[in-house]
Amino acid sequence: MSYKVRFVNYPRQYQIYKKEFDSVWEEIMSGGDFILRQHLEDFEKRIADYIGVKHAIGVNTGTDALYLSAHALGFGHGDEIITVAHTFVATIGAIVQCGAIPVLIDIADDFNMDVDQIESVITTRTKGIIPVHLNGHACNMDKIMAISEKYNLKVIEDAAQALGAEYKGKRCASFGDTGIFSFYPAKMLGTAGDGGMVCTNDDMLARKLHAFRDNGRVESVEVIECFGWCTRLDNLHAAILNMKFNYFDQWIKRRREIATLYDKSLSGVGDIITPPRFDGDYFDVYQNYVIRSKKRNALVDHLRSSGVEVLISWPIPNHKQKALELHHYQLPVTEQASNEVVSLPIYPELTDNEVEIVIDAVKAFFK
Ligand SMILES: Cc1ncc(COP(=O)(O)O)c(C=O)c1O
Repeated sequence: MSYKVRFVNYPRQYQIYKKEFDSVWEEIMSGGDFILRQHLEDFEKRIADYIGVKHAIGVNTGTDALYLSAHALGFGHGDEIITVAHTFVATIGAIVQCGAIPVLIDIADDFNMDVDQIESVITTRTKGIIPVHLNGHACNMDKIMAISEKYNLKVIEDAAQALGAEYKGKRCASFGDTGIFSFYPAKMLGTAGDGGMVCTNDDMLARKLHAFRDNGRVESVEVIECFGWCTRLDNLHAAILNMKFNYFDQWIKRRREIATLYDKSLSGVGDIITPPRFDGDYFDVYQNYVIRSKKRNALVDHLRSSGVEVLISWPIPNHKQKALELHHYQLPVTEQASNEVVSLPIYPELTDNEVEIVIDAVKAFFK
């Protein structure tokens, strides 16, 4: 069906910045700079400076960024790694692909890891924690880092959805041993395909990650330092991301404006719960604007048939996915969220008029 308001609108962004997108393409194609070239180095440097870390290493996807982090930190057979089920499956997949065991805990009202549950699942086999900064909202990193120090655990921050988000003035992906981003098209900063990045302050880890992403090669193509993978962020993607990053601050501002419009108009409508607003410790970037309702399924049908495209992340929680064999977990808050959440359109190019259409459609359902 053709929607009045799209959940994402890539062609619109292309039309707005067409000249700049086209000149990136022209520059890369005419220079033949495809793999591990200057645009990638520049982009890595910009992200490292922006996040406030020493190293940013561009890889193929956020999924690979997680997996390479887990592997570089030595997660392996029999190790237990604590994370959440309310996340994109890749967070858990990275643990499993290393041979380690995912230990899933529940979420709190902000959809992030319930930090008060972490200590209750720590055993002698626990090796790490992967907090997920979901929807562009940071986890309580003071608590997570304090626990990791107390029990000597490694931390990978899954900041795939949280580029630009802050906790106590520090950006997500700058707290843990590593922090990762995804540049999937719909993300805060998305490329024209797949992309990802690992951030770290640790020189040894950075060297390992550089080697892992390029078949064991770091400084020379002749010397192989270890077996690795081929998972580099393409120079073309880095060039696109570099161009788009020039607008990033203004895009975050626009997302926050849209979130405020939704907050003002939707709180108190029907049984809707708008996303929690946080005190000054948190700077949210609204990768997603997620509302909750007990009538979620009917609301979603209504919105779609009114021409508003919405998304449910995620209707089946990961521990209820039969193939993943994680059904021994009982996570009531996660399960309830899966039944109640729906994400409304939110992206910088969304017009005020479209926001109004979404708001009116939601209100019409509860009339
Ligand atoms: C929380 C989270 N972690 C990891 C990923 C994986 O990123 P990618 O799609 O770039 O592999 C995503 C992307 O959807 C995500 O939302």
